[in-house]
Amino acid sequence: MYQFDIAATDKPALYHDIEQALGALTADEPDAIANMANAAALLWEYLPDLNWAGFYRNVGDELVLGPFQGKAACIRIPFGKGVCGTAAQTRATQRIEDVHAFPGHIACDAASASELVVPIVHEGRLIGVLDLDSPSPARFDTEDQTGCERLVALLAPRIAAAITAP
Ligand code: SME
Repeated sequence: MYQFDIAATDKPALYHDIEQALGALTADEPDAIANMANAAALLWEYLPDLNWAGFYRNVGDELVLGPFQGKAACIRIPFGKGVCGTAAQTRATQRIEDVHAFPGHIACDAASASELVVPIVHEGRLIGVLDLDSPSPARFDTEDQTGCERLVALLAPRIAAAITAP
């Protein structure tokens, strides 16, 4: 059993604590699925007000569902489609305050109101994306974006080896 002491009251400290836990969990583990699964579990447990947290992987220039927490979700997302596909195509973080106003948003869970998607790039290759959804509008601010981008930077080399991205 893993036990983490994550009780931060402000966001930068919370993300720092999650980063420490994720670093420890993935340090000596080369298996990409195990590392993505534990990352999704940590985010789900410690970030408040989420209804989905997980990964889509780049499989032959298409996003395919990876480890996640939340409701069953769309399995394949073409690059350029929805928030995740836009993050994959542009390789830029998408922080969307109102998903209903985002052209082409893919509603996997009707409860989702805002979304944060961070592309995962390692040595020039797009590995996939980290996707967080919330039932609250404008749930994600710049501190969430910075925090998640740091988590992705830590995770990218630890999930890159086992993912095929031709
Ligand atoms: N809403 C996403 C699809 C993935 S689900 O939210 C898990 C999108 O528009 O890309």
